[in-house]
Amino acid sequence: MDVNDRRGTHDGARIDPALRARLIASMKPADGAVPAFIFSSPDVYDAELQRIFARSWLFVAHESEVPEPGDYVTRYMGEDPVIVTRAEDGQVRVFLNMCRHRGMRLCRADMGNTSHFRCPYHGFTYDNSGRLVGVPFHKEAYGDRLDRDALRLFQPRCDSHAGLIFATWADEGPSLAEYLGDARWYLDVLFRRATMEVVGPPQRWVADANWKLAADNFASDAYHTATTHASIAAIGLTPSIAFGKDGYQISLAHGHGCGLGISPQPMVPEEVLALYARHLPPEQAALWRQIKNLHATLFPNFSLLLTSAAGIEGKRIMHTTIRLWQPRGPDKVEIWSWLVVERDAPDEWRALSRKAYILTFGPSGIFEQDDTENWTNITANTRGAIARRAATFNYTMGVGQEPLVQGFPGPGRVIDTKFQEANARNFYGRWLEMMLA
Ligand code: FES
Ligand code: FE
Repeated sequence: MDVNDRRGTHDGARIDPALRARLIASMKPADGAVPAFIFSSPDVYDAELQRIFARSWLFVAHESEVPEPGDYVTRYMGEDPVIVTRAEDGQVRVFLNMCRHRGMRLCRADMGNTSHFRCPYHGFTYDNSGRLVGVPFHKEAYGDRLDRDALRLFQPRCDSHAGLIFATWADEGPSLAEYLGDARWYLDVLFRRATMEVVGPPQRWVADANWKLAADNFASDAYHTATTHASIAAIGLTPSIAFGKDGYQISLAHGHGCGLGISPQPMVPEEVLALYARHLPPEQAALWRQIKNLHATLFPNFSLLLTSAAGIEGKRIMHTTIRLWQPRGPDKVEIWSWLVVERDAPDEWRALSRKAYILTFGPSGIFEQDDTENWTNITANTRGAIARRAATFNYTMGVGQEPLVQGFPGPGRVIDTKFQEANARNFYGRWLEMMLA
């Protein structure tokens, strides 16, 4: 490769033949068989960084985080640090947060506003369209021999949908619209229901868990709620321990999946529903009269959750959170969590949404702690000799029994129950396809 090529070489990575053979022999996602070793193996993890994270469209930021020219936030795509910035021309771009001179982290703040990024090591300076525009003592140090054009920052493809900004290192392959596919309909229900904005910067914390366990839980697992979250029903935050059951599981192309809880009555006050009706087409606005909750994962590691909790100052309140399960090693995940609210909803609704988030799914939320406990325990177990050698996890719920809902307005394979693992099979099917392709 030309040392000055700015596109990177992620696509070239080959999977180790022994790992490839073992995956083919032991992993049968369509039959619900997923081997335990993929949740803590360093070899699997190395391959994932190249084959999954460097080739998928990855969520990096919400547009409300970079509203003005010069605004930026620093994020990760897999383990690659990136800068997401809005340039003077109004366009959002993403750059590898790495100086092209000798690899220093170019920007070390979480967020800010600037027209230029100056490297802390030797002072190379880049504008926010990625061009190298300043080199200290240029003449004395390099004469005419430094090709600045060849030292632009590495830049992934970037696009957005419904205010959600994504980027990918794959130079070729599907557009974001093609990659999201039918998932866009469900994203629109959540993120086009009003002008949405995030509240403050994301909260981040690290758990000793493999990232896939969280991603598959959000895509697919309503079954755990009655046991894992039983205490929540006991204290009255939800009506019964069966609250996870009623609704649909929706499988979407490219490994995406969604669970939709259905309620006989609207869970959102009429004045908020009226706001949604002004923004959404009729069939999506009508769906809001039935939604109890919605959880989803967009392959590989971006999840979203709309949930409701009772007893927030005597009211039942819904809130929306988005999640990144950032890989930090085979057995570590950094969880990034944002609260997303309707900019023009009544102040009380916005304030109570925030309370509901803190109480349930914020870092100290009671749902959140319940779930993390499962994922860290499973990950630790998969490090044991016997689990690594012989254990296969069971994702067979609903194999061969996927009754489809007739007449549902949204796309995808809409299955008439939430007690299903079709979405996990779909997620791991996509994972295996990308690992082997
Ligand atoms: Fe950035 Fe040298 S590493 S200027
Ligand atoms: Fe849970």
